[in-house]
Amino acid sequence: MKVGGQHFRTIWVQENTHQVCVIDQTKLPFAFEILSLDTPMQMVHAIQSMQVRGAPLIGAAAAYGMALASLQASHDAHFELTAKMLKASRPTAVNLAWAVERMLHVLLPLPFEARQDEAWREAEKIAEEDAAQCQAIGQAGLAQIRRHHQGKKLNIMTHCNAGWLATVDYGTALAPVYAAYDAGLDIHVWVSETRPRNQGASLTAWELAQHGVPHTIVADNAAGHLMQKGMVDMVIVGADRVTQVGDVCNKIGTYLKALAAHDNGVPFYAAVPGTTIDWKIAPQDIEIEARSAQEVTHMLGVDEYDQLHTVRIMPAESAAFNPAFDVTPARLVTGIITERGVFTPVQLSAQQAKL
Ligand code: MRU
Repeated sequence: MKVGGQHFRTIWVQENTHQVCVIDQTKLPFAFEILSLDTPMQMVHAIQSMQVRGAPLIGAAAAYGMALASLQASHDAHFELTAKMLKASRPTAVNLAWAVERMLHVLLPLPFEARQDEAWREAEKIAEEDAAQCQAIGQAGLAQIRRHHQGKKLNIMTHCNAGWLATVDYGTALAPVYAAYDAGLDIHVWVSETRPRNQGASLTAWELAQHGVPHTIVADNAAGHLMQKGMVDMVIVGADRVTQVGDVCNKIGTYLKALAAHDNGVPFYAAVPGTTIDWKIAPQDIEIEARSAQEVTHMLGVDEYDQLHTVRIMPAESAAFNPAFDVTPARLVTGIITERGVFTPVQLSAQQAKL
């Protein structure tokens, strides 16, 4: 996607080097900075600190983390330790564990001298596949948007950031939005700010602005009210893990949006690549990442002179709790938009062999 007219992906390898470049998402929307990562531990840190984030992107990032490990690893135990650290860096999104397992599956049977080249090739393949899947999600979602559009302006609500910043390119929830906008459909996006880290206000709004898509940021708590007033025609979110029956684990607050959508007859979609579907897990077994309470107690922003500050917004002695994801039951989900088309939760499990 484009930043200031220049094409960027979220992750790439610097030409003729083994340096992995990423956009530092902790700096957006205030600064656009590129980070250069040379070691697997730097990749673990980038994922943990959310310099890179979003389920498909942390999958690709972990694959490159394994490629970085191939430069140093001198025995299998070294690879396996890096794999373990990468997997533990963020537990909820299945894409991360999936990508690490795929790398191990390809690399461990090879002799050491063959591993480096193959590791970089496989990581590149994972990144390319993700971009292609997201592009296809955009087309599948566009068909769905056209069904709801019917010639009038369409108001789409999203939550968190499931745009191109959260993937290698195109995005999941926002891929259909970009496809619809590029096709000339009259659309507007309600961006929910997504406390505590504000991925909606900071990242989704920034992306949409770069592309010129009309959008408005609302407080998370405004969603139900907007739906009651008929101001939302459909909701599209991303996901970190989808169960085989269509339960959707996504950023905290998604469940509340799905409840409000259900109560108001607003269609609720999750857009995901096949790599986000966990065919084995039950919803109660999904590990919900607990992040630092400081993400709740403090906020980052700029003052009138564009100086960055982190400020505390509550009494210093108050406790805070920060579960990062929730699970929306399949009964509240209208459809899952994938690279192979749109499925109701009931239809989804029949797709296991294909996705
Ligand atoms: O904590 P984050 O910012 O990594 O959470 C991101 C989300 O919840 C996204 O909706 C999800 O990963 C899908 S991204 C295409």
